[in-house]
Amino acid sequence: MTRFDSRSVAPPSSDKKMPWTQEHYDQFDMLGYLFMPGLFSTEEIARLNEIIPELLQGDDQADQMHRERERSGAVRQIYLAHRYSPPFEALSRDARIVEPVRQILDSEIYVWHSKINVKDAFEGTVWLWHQDYGYWMWDGVEPKLISVMVLLDEATLNNGCLLVAAGSQKWGRLEHDADERTTSYKQWCVDKETLKERLSEDRIQPITGKPGDVLFFDCNLLHGSGHNMSPLPRKTFIIAYNDLTNRPGAVENPRPDWVVSRNFEPVSSR
Ligand code: SIN
Ligand code: MN
Repeated sequence: MTRFDSRSVAPPSSDKKMPWTQEHYDQFDMLGYLFMPGLFSTEEIARLNEIIPELLQGDDQADQMHRERERSGAVRQIYLAHRYSPPFEALSRDARIVEPVRQILDSEIYVWHSKINVKDAFEGTVWLWHQDYGYWMWDGVEPKLISVMVLLDEATLNNGCLLVAAGSQKWGRLEHDADERTTSYKQWCVDKETLKERLSEDRIQPITGKPGDVLFFDCNLLHGSGHNMSPLPRKTFIIAYNDLTNRPGAVENPRPDWVVSRNFEPVSSR
């Protein structure tokens, strides 16, 4: 076990609705993320997965969600499920997610955006190393956002599990360049020289796990993932929450509502 390994984390508290202990908050602060195994049951995740085929086949005009596609045409991401798909809406308000995020940010929160990252078997392509705040800074906000990634499928080394650089949130925001060549999706990523200087192998932690496991992470945590080389899909649902007082500023090129939500309704947890 390396000093950055988080799998030695304390067991959840016996309060199922509030499983975080002080040790978990301390770990989040130190590493920039916390992996909470088994936060949702197999049955809860199965109910979400049941409606995924419908979401994959859906049409943006008809259901108002937003889809990004791989060059192959396969769906890469579905945005706005938290707004238009009731089971995902319920998940975005679930106390097991919302309460720790409120505690970390020490404020009321709203949903900045959500996305189902599909990463289909053999199709799903790479996410280059980046910090989410590398993008979000340009939306005129402070780094007061937390993302929550719920595993909908098993995530393995072969199907392109997320990789995180433990403790990298403490570096603050790094410079990002736009990459429009590697995938169909324009990605802001940290350049190779900076990565060579900063990123040591022992910081890189693969987030493998089972459906229902959940990763909470800071908006300055460096992360990315490889191509799906496996016959297994690697679907995840990522919800990003913003501090309610940290609204997007008046920037030159405001991004659309599907990626920078203008719905500032505070999230009431259930
Ligand atoms: C992301 O950073 O938004 C996606 C990373 C991944 O799905 O592997
Ligand atoms: Mn990201």
